[in-house]
Amino acid sequence: MKTALVILAAGKGTRMNSDLPKVLHPLAGAPLLVHAMQSGASLGPSHTVIVAGHGAELVRKAALSHDASAIIVEQNEQLGTGHAAKQAQEVLKGFDGTVIVLFGDTPFVSPETLSAICDAQRSSDVVVLGFEAEDPARYGRLVMDGTQLDRIVEFKDASEAERTITLCNSGVVACNGTLLFDLLQAVDNDNAAGEFYLPDIVGIARARGLKTAVVTCDESETLGINSRAELSAAEAAFQNRARADAFENGVTLPAPETVHFAFDTVVGRDTIIEPNVVFGPGVTVESGATIRAFSHLEGCHVARGSIVGPYARLRPGAELSENVRVGNFVEVKNARIGTGTKINHLSYIGDATLGEHTNVGAGTITCNYDGVLKHHTEIGNHVFIGSNTMLVAPVQIGDHAMTGSGSVITSDVEPEALALSRAPQIEKPGMATKLINLLKAKKAKQQRGS
Ligand code: UD1
Ligand code: MG
Repeated sequence: MKTALVILAAGKGTRMNSDLPKVLHPLAGAPLLVHAMQSGASLGPSHTVIVAGHGAELVRKAALSHDASAIIVEQNEQLGTGHAAKQAQEVLKGFDGTVIVLFGDTPFVSPETLSAICDAQRSSDVVVLGFEAEDPARYGRLVMDGTQLDRIVEFKDASEAERTITLCNSGVVACNGTLLFDLLQAVDNDNAAGEFYLPDIVGIARARGLKTAVVTCDESETLGINSRAELSAAEAAFQNRARADAFENGVTLPAPETVHFAFDTVVGRDTIIEPNVVFGPGVTVESGATIRAFSHLEGCHVARGSIVGPYARLRPGAELSENVRVGNFVEVKNARIGTGTKINHLSYIGDATLGEHTNVGAGTITCNYDGVLKHHTEIGNHVFIGSNTMLVAPVQIGDHAMTGSGSVITSDVEPEALALSRAPQIEKPGMATKLINLLKAKKAKQQRGS
């Protein structure tokens, strides 16, 4: 069965008290919207429609940078979730498969739950994802009639008796495309909020004698984020799950509560992640690696057996081959580091390619930026870069070459050559003692004078 996703993301999110649209607030390194897009993508939809409104340009950019094939439609006035869903009608014209409506502020709905909803939709006209809420608070309530869902009542409109219902609306709905827009046509805004409620399609479907059903999932999947407090609770829930998954996958975390994962972090078996490590988006660490304390990694790949940190920073495009060492206060950006190469102390390696079994001395810097353009540094295999070498890019250092410590290397170095570029050392016998005595005498004279 063909599916299309419609993700509602036009709301301002007043309760966030923010200039940023609610759905763009980050959770585990990605906007809330991207989490919803990612779980929806598991269904392999033929269309992914994002309904943007508040901060539409920003929402459009975030959606397209995650999935360039997403279709963005605008809801110019935020008149409610039903009105928002209706904005997808034009772009889904002629689509007769299952439409799944997701909320951009509900990031944790699992692929398994979505496929259960799709399955249920084969035998029912309208399927709603519900959950038993420990504290139903302001969620919409599902009013059942036997096994069928009779209607959904919003908290604001609910009677005292209805408010005691603990089976709540997640916001996720599945319905045949043609039918959905037909039902939405009948939704009005005669309610406490004066809004067009998407959940009202359930009551309308029932009144027409159609079949409705509820699929339930754990409350942890349906957490809707409306405030900063809920965002931080969601972050904590995400991190706890990510840490538990890491344990399951054979990863050692001696202080799990101090390690922060991103939505897409991949860590291999028998890797150790020491305390206070932070993963930004786009990190893969293969098996048997060690990420030592206080390191920060994003957009990088660490191959098996490598040791990173403590206090290392791997930025986007850092590619570490097997058994690489990146030590304390070393920053690597957009650079491929060959097998067994060591950059152990206080270095910046950016826009570079390093070969195998090369040693980069303490304090080495690839001077990659001339104030306008970035330039590349290429270092071969078995090279020895002396401490405090400045490699002024573009520059190439051949295999088995060496640079003398303190050198500023501005031109290419042949394989097997030693390059030195520093003032020659001169030595003046006895001069140190003479100088000290001279200075002491000067100080004594000053003190007598004052
Ligand atoms: C909604 C549901 C409620 C459910 C809860 C689950 C309605 C009327 N209520 O309430 O039953 O229990 O979610 O989290 O649907 N949006 C638009 N355009 C609009 C209004 C909202 O795109 O005009 C988007 C928002 O960006 C958000 C989503 O729809 O992503 C939900 O809106 P929100 O205002 O958070 O609804 P809730 O009050 O949480
Ligand atoms: Mg909400």
